[in-house]
Amino acid sequence: MESLEELYTIQDSFSNDFLWGVAFSAKQTEGSFDRGITVADLQDYNPKDATKVKGDLSETEILNRLENPSNYYFPKEKGIDFYHRYKEDLELIAKLGVKCLRFSISWARIFPNDDEIPSQIGLDFYDSILQILNDKGITPIITLYHDDMPVRLALEYNGFLSKDINESFIRYAQLILTRYKDKVNHWIIFNQINLTRVGLSSLGIVKDKVTDLEAAKWQAVHNKMVTAAKIVSLGREISKDFRFGSMLADFIVNPETCEPKDIVFATEKNQMTMFLYADVQFFGEYPGYALRYFKENNICIQSDKNELKVLKENTMDFLAISYYNSNVVSAKENSMKIGDSKINPYLEANPWGWTINPRGLYDSFIRYWDRYHKPLMIAENGFGAIETKENDMIDDQYRIQYLNDHLYAIKKAIRQGVNVFAYCLWSPFDIVSSGTSEMKKRYGLIFVDQDDFGKGSGNRFPKKSYYWYQNVIQTNGDSLESFEDDFK
Ligand code: BG6
Repeated sequence: MESLEELYTIQDSFSNDFLWGVAFSAKQTEGSFDRGITVADLQDYNPKDATKVKGDLSETEILNRLENPSNYYFPKEKGIDFYHRYKEDLELIAKLGVKCLRFSISWARIFPNDDEIPSQIGLDFYDSILQILNDKGITPIITLYHDDMPVRLALEYNGFLSKDINESFIRYAQLILTRYKDKVNHWIIFNQINLTRVGLSSLGIVKDKVTDLEAAKWQAVHNKMVTAAKIVSLGREISKDFRFGSMLADFIVNPETCEPKDIVFATEKNQMTMFLYADVQFFGEYPGYALRYFKENNICIQSDKNELKVLKENTMDFLAISYYNSNVVSAKENSMKIGDSKINPYLEANPWGWTINPRGLYDSFIRYWDRYHKPLMIAENGFGAIETKENDMIDDQYRIQYLNDHLYAIKKAIRQGVNVFAYCLWSPFDIVSSGTSEMKKRYGLIFVDQDDFGKGSGNRFPKKSYYWYQNVIQTNGDSLESFEDDFK
């Protein structure tokens, strides 16, 4: 007889082929040069109202922004000019020693004007990026849609609500999958499929062009899930090496108190805001709790037997999670809407009220693994802070602490048997905030000399965290430190 320890492999830390990486999106970095305008481009920066998530615009508001651009400042139109500086930026990323890079391809760069003729200049841009990554031995993880609906498709068709636009997206995906089949294996079709708070960017729905926004959102989410399954089906024909990921924004909530009502409310809210999406994408069918919710809330999603078959036959391979913070809920005070929650009083927060909870990440990963038993990756994790560059290097010890603790939480999850294959830090450089369009919400390991209005040299300066992460990668995570004695 042998001991279980001898019979099984017990993972003590990150595997030798662990993918250490960084992540960013097209809409926050590239700028709108040489491509079509997206709904993200129209999210203006307004210092008097910078705390709210922008984006659920009416038709009039969209047209007003398109027709009178000088009345606004649109930071995502410039991004951080990655479009022109990508060679220098990729060099800095490579020097970190990363093994992977998660980035998104912009649909509006590939099909700027219509849905038939792809832009050669757009394809050349991504050809060049992928060639550089290939030469440097960095594994690409590509997101096909990172909340940047071409504005013409939102205005004319209400985006993913339209079956035609879902077909257009499939054609775009097929083109990209085929073109890069020898360079890319990991695909995340949709960024954060559960984060439908801003229906315009995630779904392409113009709010006043539908009678019931809530019902329209659910229909568009359903369409996206069928579209994703069709892309998986096509992808399996294109390459047997392809791996497809379902991606969720971690919005797992805990009950504010141990009152049974709060506990059950948190459970049901996690089902409808988190697990539903991954349940469909991994188990291939709608769970009973969702069908009950739709029935009781008069949400009538249109589908057919063929779509259900497509969902059943084309499930995902891995689960990608973006994790930043965690909150609590009260049955009395909160609704089922994603993001409607309360601050956990035990946690500290950044200036935007995003709490810091590495234990929450550990807890979430245990739940995902228990439920799906699919390989997990962190698609995004990072710390937004206000920073200014004087003469010296930015000493961002708070970011180092945040990253250390979250990475340590992942290491602990691995030690507990969770299969985690990649970690993509958000983000290698300071970029335009998705939610507020500010530049001052800086996540970067590299400072970008650019302010909220796009002023500055645009030059890049590594912060202390850049060298810290470089060392973490070099030591394959051995340099990470436990942050509390009871968390080993
Ligand atoms: C994620 C998005 O939800 O959150 C990213 O996928 C985004 O695009 C990140 O940047 C952080 O949000 P914010 O609003 O601070 O940029």
